[in-house]
Formats: sequence, structure tokens, C-alpha cells
Amino acid sequence: MSDSWIAVAAEDELAPGQMKRIQIAGKHLLICNADGALYVVDEMCSHEDYSLFLGCIQDGRIKCSLHGSYFDLKTGKPESDPADEPICTYQTKIEDGQLWVSV
Ligand code: FES
Repeated sequence: MSDSWIAVAAEDELAPGQMKRIQIAGKHLLICNADGALYVVDEMCSHEDYSLFLGCIQDGRIKCSLHGSYFDLKTGKPESDPADEPICTYQTKIEDGQLWVSV
């Protein structure tokens, strides 16, 4: 079990469909609220160096606005071309009213 949990946001800080950029241990990450479920993933698309923060969240996925690839927020897997590499996803938990992430 990892002991590297870091509180990154209040549990109720983001509304469904919202994202927040965070930086932890030199990594640029995104907190995403998909229909009330919170996920933490890499900020940058795996296809080209483009911020997924500029995209949108739909049906548990995040869409890159540059070329339109969708990534599953749970697994990071790309679901449509042109991206063929996953983005990293991070373990999260809710405790004491905060969202925690393990990096
Ligand atoms: S940069 Fe994201 S799909 Fe091309």
C-alpha cells in the first residue's frame, strides 16, 4: 500500500464536467469530474504534446480537442484514433472531505 497520498482538492470542489489542473512531483495532472466521479489523469494527450484541459468530459471519457481522440478516464486507454497510447491514470480516494491522489 502506498504511503504517498496527497490531498489535491475538496471533495465537492468540481461540478460534473469540470476539470482542474494540478502539479505534483513535477507531473502535470488533471482532476476530472465525470458525472460525480473524480479521476486524476495526465494532463497531456499521448498523441501530441497538447493539454487535455482544453478538451471536454463525456460519458466517463476525456476528449482531446486537437484531433478528437477519447480516453477512458478509469483506464487511460484511447478509444478512438489517432491516439494509440494510453494516458496515465492515478489511484484516488476520498477521505476527510478531500480528494487524495497517490503518485
Ligand atoms: S493531440 Fe490529442 S489526439 Fe492528437
